[in-house]
Amino acid sequence: MIIAVDGPTASGKGTIARALAAHFGLPHLDTGLLYRAVGYQVGLDGGNPDEAADALAACAFPDALLENSELRSEATGGLASRVSIHPAVRQALYERQRQFALQPGGAVLDGRDIGTVIAPEAEVKLFVTASVEARAERRFREMQAQGRAATLAEIAEDLRRRDERDRTRATAPLVAALDAVQLDTSSLSPDQAVAEAIRIVEQKP
Ligand code: C5P
Repeated sequence: MIIAVDGPTASGKGTIARALAAHFGLPHLDTGLLYRAVGYQVGLDGGNPDEAADALAACAFPDALLENSELRSEATGGLASRVSIHPAVRQALYERQRQFALQPGGAVLDGRDIGTVIAPEAEVKLFVTASVEARAERRFREMQAQGRAATLAEIAEDLRRRDERDRTRATAPLVAALDAVQLDTSSLSPDQAVAEAIRIVEQKP
């Protein structure tokens, strides 16, 4: 069984994907990390994320980079969003994601284009959403817990900018697959969102 979990930043898709993988005993791939690795590498090399050639060359990142906690930073997320608009980058990362999806026992992948491009044949597709306000609030609390400063307004603005870029890019934009089940987590706790996701998967024929 392939489970595709797509949605915007801070919608809860990562938490849901991890929990589904644990619950159903499937391997999980956070595909955002791959784009973050490319973005990070471009930043390290002093490259311009808007130059496709630089970004493509940077796709050859070492696997160990995926363990680097720097990948989770807001700055790297911004770089990831900028490199991810380049078709050459998406193409370079396609095969790795496709192989992961096709493992014999199945897999859970989360990202932006899993149900539309990487695994359109997925048995279950979830499109996880939440209001900008709810997502900004979550990000704000996360950052406070880490002792990092940013106002709610700044975070909401950054989320809007990233959503806009992800939704309007020409290649593999963030869009729900026609056969995806929408799950709005705005007013759900993480436990409630996970329980709802499990229910959706179990109800699939
Ligand atoms: O999900 P995460 O915030 O880690 O993703 C970082 C960026 O990588 C996103 O803003 C998006 O631009 C890009 N991305 C993508 N396709 C995916 C996963 C992530 O374009 N499948």
